[in-house]
Amino acid sequence: MAIQLLAKPLVEKTKKQLEAKCKVLKEKDIIPKMQVIYIGDNKASRLYTRKKKKFCENFGAIVDIIHLPSETTEKEFLETINNINLDKTTHGCFIQLPVPTQLEHLDIGELISPQKDVDGFHAENLRHLMRNSNEELYFVPCTPGGIMALLSHYQIPVEGKNVVIVGRSMIVGKPLSLLMTNHNATVTVCHSKTNNLREITRSADIIVSAVGKPRYLDASYINNEKDQVVIDVGINHDQDGILCGDINFNEVEPLVYAITPVPGGVGPLTVLYLAQNLLQAAEKNI
Ligand code: GUN
Repeated sequence: MAIQLLAKPLVEKTKKQLEAKCKVLKEKDIIPKMQVIYIGDNKASRLYTRKKKKFCENFGAIVDIIHLPSETTEKEFLETINNINLDKTTHGCFIQLPVPTQLEHLDIGELISPQKDVDGFHAENLRHLMRNSNEELYFVPCTPGGIMALLSHYQIPVEGKNVVIVGRSMIVGKPLSLLMTNHNATVTVCHSKTNNLREITRSADIIVSAVGKPRYLDASYINNEKDQVVIDVGINHDQDGILCGDINFNEVEPLVYAITPVPGGVGPLTVLYLAQNLLQAAEKNI
């Protein structure tokens, strides 16, 4: 049976540290504050923004969700962000993706000032990631940061390992490939046009899947002669509406050394890392 890499023990441990840090800030009359921009009626976005708000409020931060209608114009959107950028009491901000089509052409990552960019999407933060700067100097993107924290918590080293990432998104695949490289892994990024994907995943020590297709990677992508570690970033619903990851868990779990479940694996770590970034922003603002 594989080790299940559960978020919960790490979240519980880190939550205590976040509460302690928040208390220190409060003694200096600083309350970490985050503004979240959520546009339109995407159900998943509503759920995610609420989860992030609840988690951060739980350890003592203030979180305002600014819910804008689907028909919000570019001018209104930019004005909202500009006000947040100018607001000295707001330490962190993020725009929940996706945005409606009339705003899609905007370079969303560049809109929030880099000092408040708790998602780590701004070019200034990404440049630090590329340069392998000290991680305290910038905001590491939340899902990649959460994955590294989970591996570290379970004492799974990445140095010298062959890491295969399936998915090349700006939110997960690309930044994770840089972060893993910074931690001395040898990284292969695969995507929908990759030839011989099974051959590549079967050669991996660590497989990370972020493709967004229900149970896409089955036993045929796994090499049970290796002690593979499988990280499932997918949060999907199958035809019956059942929540599942990108990995066919029932097939893959018996064949690998360790695996993240969905739910309860990577998802809560994205929220945890966001909270850490918010505290980092508030601490820097002193
Ligand atoms: N939509 C899906 N994942 C994310 C994320 O990590 N950050 C933001 N802002 N939007 C998302």
